[in-house]
Amino acid sequence: MAEIGKDIEKAEAILKKGGLVAIPTETVYGLAGNALNPDAVAKIFSVKSRPNFDPLILHTESIERIEGFVLHIPDSLRQLALSFWPGPLTLLLPKKLIVPDLVTSGLNRVAVRVPNHPLTLKLLSKLEFPLAAPSANPFGYISPTKATHVNDQLGDKIEYILDGGSCHVGLESTIIGLENGQVTVYRLGGLDLQSIEKVVGKVKVMAHSSSNPKSPGMLKSHYAPRKPFILGDLDKLVSSYQKKGTDFAVLSFRKDLSMVPDKRHIQLSRLGDLSEAAKNLFAAMRTLDNMDVSVILSELVPDVGLGKAINDRLKRAAAREE
Ligand code: TXA
Ligand code: MG
Repeated sequence: MAEIGKDIEKAEAILKKGGLVAIPTETVYGLAGNALNPDAVAKIFSVKSRPNFDPLILHTESIERIEGFVLHIPDSLRQLALSFWPGPLTLLLPKKLIVPDLVTSGLNRVAVRVPNHPLTLKLLSKLEFPLAAPSANPFGYISPTKATHVNDQLGDKIEYILDGGSCHVGLESTIIGLENGQVTVYRLGGLDLQSIEKVVGKVKVMAHSSSNPKSPGMLKSHYAPRKPFILGDLDKLVSSYQKKGTDFAVLSFRKDLSMVPDKRHIQLSRLGDLSEAAKNLFAAMRTLDNMDVSVILSELVPDVGLGKAINDRLKRAAAREE
């Protein structure tokens, strides 16, 4: 198992020698390595069992540092960066040659972001290189929002997990770029569409396409638990599975279900607060996935604000690759 702690100097030393460290961000934990060192980047792909065609996000502590890795920042995207960094926003920008092709899987844009977590910002400002960091989970599984989640799955493959507590947003960053001059969302995430549209006006959302994905975060089945995950009307689902005699657990938005034992039921937010639901979502999915039941029954949340990104993750969890 990996060591878990808050020692920034230790994380710095491991990263400097080309090793990997799991780092906390406000969205999810990342599996970080020196983005300018192709050996370190290759290690990230192998530890995650991630296919090489799925590019990584480059993390730094400021927009000024990011200018060193991209050819230019279009005005509209700069407005977003100035409004939301540090925060749950990733921008796709034309890359400079200094960024290894392995990081971008050979694409000419690089994904960049300034994460909002005090420990990681401090670490980034001590380093002379940016960090490439995908979510710190095996490819295709639910992203980790606590240090223990990382340890459970990747603990025997990495040396150190920088412990920053529970991620306070709990959903991966919203990914944005320009497509034929139009601001386009490629992945719904922790920054909601209304906030984005207040700054740049109407945006195009391409995040739902499942055929020929431009980024694997767009794959239909991704962020998924191992158990069958069924979405629908919970009252109907529960009574039908009870009749069938199948063991199940329930993930509800705010609903209290008197016919389901408490230990088999997680409510994302009793008060119906979407930020609270987002923060709890992945930990709840993990807990339910590890329960001794055969299926997980769940429901969509209101499709507004962060609810859109939550519903995106719920639908992907329910999707099975054909
Ligand atoms: O919140 C987050 O974004 C977290 C934390 C750790 O920062 N990171 C994260 O990374 O979710 P990852 O690798 O799990 O998801 C990154 C997504 C992938 O779906 C990838 O395909 C897409 O970003 N992506 C990265 N670079 C890209 C590029 N150059 N063009 C298109 N998509 C890209
Ligand atoms: Mg991921």
